Amino acid sequence: MKKQRILVLSVFTTILGLSGIASAGDAAAGKAIYDGKGACGSCHGATGAGDGAAAAALNPKPASFAAGIFRLDTDGDGKTGTDADLANAIKNGGAKYGGNVAMPARADLTEDEVASLVAYIHSLKK
Ligand code: HEC
Repeated sequence: MKKQRILVLSVFTTILGLSGIASAGDAAAGKAIYDGKGACGSCHGATGAGDGAAAAALNPKPASFAAGIFRLDTDGDGKTGTDADLANAIKNGGAKYGGNVAMPARADLTEDEVASLVAYIHSLKK
């Protein structure tokens, strides 16, 4: 009986711990990556409006994060713009999901960095 209770408790705390990690995205850290080594703004624009310097040459152009418009349903759940959709697009690039090949795959970013970028992208919505 006691053993079972301990097992249930540890499973519960593990789930809590994991969900904590999964939502660890920090928008401020995401902004630093977006503006810095991610160079996301060169295409997506400083405010996420899809109007970066390189965007003029892109077709289709990036959707506007600022307007909360998202095109790619990367996990096939019928919705776009979920955390999973954004994270997949960032990690695997646009081509994998039938999107613009210009959206680069950033396999070099850690899960934490991707989660922070996702949080920052959501925060850009006006
Ligand atoms: C060379 C230009 C370019 C760069 C650099 C770039 N992107 Fe993109 N990105 C695009 C384009 C173009 C699309 C649109 C893909 C489509 O809809 O077909 C896109 C799509 C996306 C999407 C999917 C949005 C949707 O409509 O569902 C996300 C998320 C995203 N980019 C995040 C990022 C992040 C974060 C970075 C920086 C690490 C980045 N991008 C860097 C061009 C770029």
